Amino acid sequence: MKILVTGAAGFIGSHLAEKLAQRGDDIVGLDNFNDYYDPAKKRANAQRLAQYPNFRMIEADIRQRQRMFDIFEAEKFDAVAHLAAMAGVRNAVRFPELYVEVDLNGTQHLMDAARTFNVGNFVFASTSSVYGQTKQIPFVESDPCDRPLQPYAAAKRAAELLGYTYHYLYGLNFTVLRFFTVYGPNGRPDMMAYLVAESVTKGIQIPLYEGGNMYRDWTFVDDIVNGIVAAIDKPLGFEIINLGRGEPTLLKEFVGMIEALAGRKANVVHKPKLPADFIRNHADISKARRLLGYDPQISVAEGVKIFWEWYISQDEIRAILEK
Ligand SMILES: NC(=O)c1ccc[n+]([C@@H]2O[C@H](COP(=O)([O-])OP(=O)(O)OC[C@H]3O[C@@H](n4cnc5c(N)ncnc54)[C@H](O)[C@@H]3O)[C@@H](O)[C@H]2O)c1
Repeated sequence: MKILVTGAAGFIGSHLAEKLAQRGDDIVGLDNFNDYYDPAKKRANAQRLAQYPNFRMIEADIRQRQRMFDIFEAEKFDAVAHLAAMAGVRNAVRFPELYVEVDLNGTQHLMDAARTFNVGNFVFASTSSVYGQTKQIPFVESDPCDRPLQPYAAAKRAAELLGYTYHYLYGLNFTVLRFFTVYGPNGRPDMMAYLVAESVTKGIQIPLYEGGNMYRDWTFVDDIVNGIVAAIDKPLGFEIINLGRGEPTLLKEFVGMIEALAGRKANVVHKPKLPADFIRNHADISKARRLLGYDPQISVAEGVKIFWEWYISQDEIRAILEK
């Protein structure tokens, strides 16, 4: 299969592209290598992918509509896994326009290109953030999700809705996957696992909101990737599917697991919850199990250990720890 993976230089996208390249698909990655976090990390991911002869990276911005059409016309994709996005929840509060431009308008350009050039399946990376402060716990796909707490969640939810319209009007197969707090090797440096690791090794001060009394449904990246691959392989018309672990862990316990592995305390400063944050996320994953055969394998304890081993294997961190 010929598959476009947008956001292929990013955290989850690079894991996905690697998995698909390993099984022999013809993969085109697309990324704009922006500097929301250190682009050197994205270049390193792209470098890792470059070893696969069946992988190619195109450096482009999904906001460039004509460029997207040109790429789709030339490449003739069978499927699209659209992971490119501005993804930081808190950053979205500062730059709402950017989040709508990329996460909604950019996504629409890809949907239009996909329907014009007859792409068989469009898989869209959405987020548990769309659930906002819903009272329905665990989060279930039938929730209306009409009270997003920040522009990131609002733009993703709007793109989900547009996906339904494109399915209804133009017959585009469109599967929305809502990811829940993904972590693992090569993880995003603005996310909690990485921040805690940085704090325990470098002493960097990090905020701990609500005394760490917030639940997150941490999901190991390999499990997420298996769910995405299953969705790519199975066009479903239009569906919305949670991909989480289904076993939320308190933030303070998650921090404690990394501290225990490091044998050092994180340098936390206590802060109240931000308006953009929710107290709890918890996935009901029964639909993913039923439709995709999704079956997450890695417990949080195992996943944190794998993450930590990767983190300390980086040259820069090894040098700090050997001092
Ligand atoms: N990591 C999580 O916990 C999580 C949770 C829910 C949803 N998601 C979603 O999963 C997807 C991947 O997230 P991630 O954690 O790997 O983030 P990431 O930031 O590492 O990856 C996103 C990639 O998209 C690229 N990108 C951003 N804007 C672009 C543009 N205009 N044109 C082309 N490329 C662009 C970035 O350069 C980056 O490499 C995103 O859609 C995100 O919203 C992630």
